[in-house]
Amino acid sequence: MDRQPEHYYTPEPVSLRQPVIYTDTLRGVTVRLWTDHGVFSRGHTDPGSEELLAAMDVTGAARILDLGCGYGVVGIVAAKLAPVAHVVLTDINARAVELTQQNLASNDVRNAEVRQGDGFQPVAGDIFDVILTNPPIRAGNAVVFALIAESAAHLTPGGRFYLVARTKQGAKSFAKEMARHFPHVAQVGQGSGYRVYEGKT
Ligand SMILES: C[S@@+](CC[C@H](N)C(=O)[O-])C[C@H]1O[C@@H](n2cnc3c(N)ncnc32)[C@H](O)[C@@H]1O
Repeated sequence: MDRQPEHYYTPEPVSLRQPVIYTDTLRGVTVRLWTDHGVFSRGHTDPGSEELLAAMDVTGAARILDLGCGYGVVGIVAAKLAPVAHVVLTDINARAVELTQQNLASNDVRNAEVRQGDGFQPVAGDIFDVILTNPPIRAGNAVVFALIAESAAHLTPGGRFYLVARTKQGAKSFAKEMARHFPHVAQVGQGSGYRVYEGKT
């Protein structure tokens, strides 16, 4: 039987499990994170995720979504910075969801939950004050454009959407797409070859 090549967004990775844990301090929050093969950015925080975390504003949010959470670094730091908020982390990749579950527990995060599924399917009918994403660029523009459109539809009035992308991987084209769905779009971060955009409803 032919097998599809495995990507970090493969729903059921079969690559060898070799978990590694690392420690990082992001926005003043120290986290210890289990990572593995078959999940994005094994063994270190992705520089794009660092830029996203540096630029995001979770002040006053009651409900936060980390869309495409990987092993959970963005949502876990958001949950620590906004202890009164409830954070939902989602990913299509079962191994990512398993690691996130483990990382929520080992970092003593009690105001968050993880759900598996494609795009907004695991949070259908839910709305959020802040949506954070380091999107799966390699899955293609059609996937990322759909996530942008659906994010606008899943925000409260005055809600905020944050997206990070590599400048050389079409960040500006994502900002342009965001402008089709959000009345206000601004670049709020830049560094290490990435740009962070904020869309406000
Ligand atoms: C660039 S990675 C970012 C991971 C994590 N947020 C981080 O910062 O390390 C994008 C994530 O989106 C997930 N993903 C890809 N396609 C998806 C989809 N259709 N629905 C939900 N998640 C998806 C991938 O499995 C991957 O974990």
